[in-house]
Amino acid sequence: MAAARVAGADEDLDRSLRPRRLADFVNQRQVTTQLEVFIEAARRREESLDHVLLAGPPGLGKTSLAHIIAAELEAPIVQTAGPALERKADIASFLTALEPGSVFFIDEIHRLNRAIEETLYPAMEDRQLPIVLGQGAGARTVTLDLPPFTLVGATTRAGLLTTPLRDRFGVSQRLEHYEPDHLAQIVRRSAGILEVEIEPAGEHVIAQRSRGTPRVANRLLKRVRDFAEVRGAGVVTEGIAAEALGLLEVDGAGLDRHDRTILETIAVKFAGGPVGLSTLAAAVDEEQETIEDVYEPYLLQQGLLKRTPRGRVATERAFEHLGLPVPERAASLF
Ligand SMILES: Nc1ncnc2c1ncn2[C@@H]1O[C@H](COP(=O)(O)OP(=O)(O)O)[C@@H](O)[C@H]1O
Ligand SMILES: [Mg+2]
Repeated sequence: MAAARVAGADEDLDRSLRPRRLADFVNQRQVTTQLEVFIEAARRREESLDHVLLAGPPGLGKTSLAHIIAAELEAPIVQTAGPALERKADIASFLTALEPGSVFFIDEIHRLNRAIEETLYPAMEDRQLPIVLGQGAGARTVTLDLPPFTLVGATTRAGLLTTPLRDRFGVSQRLEHYEPDHLAQIVRRSAGILEVEIEPAGEHVIAQRSRGTPRVANRLLKRVRDFAEVRGAGVVTEGIAAEALGLLEVDGAGLDRHDRTILETIAVKFAGGPVGLSTLAAAVDEEQETIEDVYEPYLLQQGLLKRTPRGRVATERAFEHLGLPVPERAASLF
């Protein structure tokens, strides 16, 4: 219940702070420059944009970009998610109702089931939707022509997409974690929208500790603002930001309590690893998928965790970060 409420509040925050146009979308230059060209070309030819696949960890801007693509194309957007599409009829009703030129956004596209995926192939390739009428011996297949549309798929796990599906996207982009300077820019923009007074040094403290993720930066900004209002003069200074993040248990490397629990579990309970994902997930009481999607990408990027064929390993740097003595072990494990 509490978790659901928090998630709801976060979604509202996401929506209110979402950049609306490509020009508002901070950084990820290689992604935005390419999209700009493709969108402009599609507009000039008055054709629909090629299907677009957006991959990358949560909170880096995939949903924002899907909406931006529609806005730039001045096209309607229809949104659903992989797990919501159970039967062929579910996807058929979306596809047949699309207005010409629409963006059809499927979030978590790696979670589509096989039957739905196979329905998508001809829809993506030839704008055709084969449907079976009747049952048994009297069944026959008719093929419906679909209007032109652009499928935008978002996934945190591009590796789980089947090759035939992946191959049907003309444009495929991977979003990467953001540099602190870009996160500071996002914090500044969000502070403007939320009418929070913030000093540049305060922006940087939040940016440094946002694990490279705009959604985290926005969430921290909101918490820091509350703190500034109650404990300070309402202005987010460097000191206020640092103090607030300390209270929120976000450390200097941007790790929160959950990140540290995962690292500590590997370091202490499993003597630095290697430990298998399922064992680790059970030990920290998290879903495997959450560990892989939400926590690991940042820990890997920070060089605190390593994936080896035998399991997850805490690096020397992780021990140092946690203030634990670095164990003696084979150099190959670090
Ligand atoms: N490049 C960006 N520039 C500005 N804000 C961004 C950017 N990327 C993400 N955000 C912010 O982060 C929030 C989460 O982004 P979202 O698109 O929902 O991520 P994802 O779908 O990848 O999980 C958005 O509401 C937006 O405020
Ligand atoms: Mg999203």
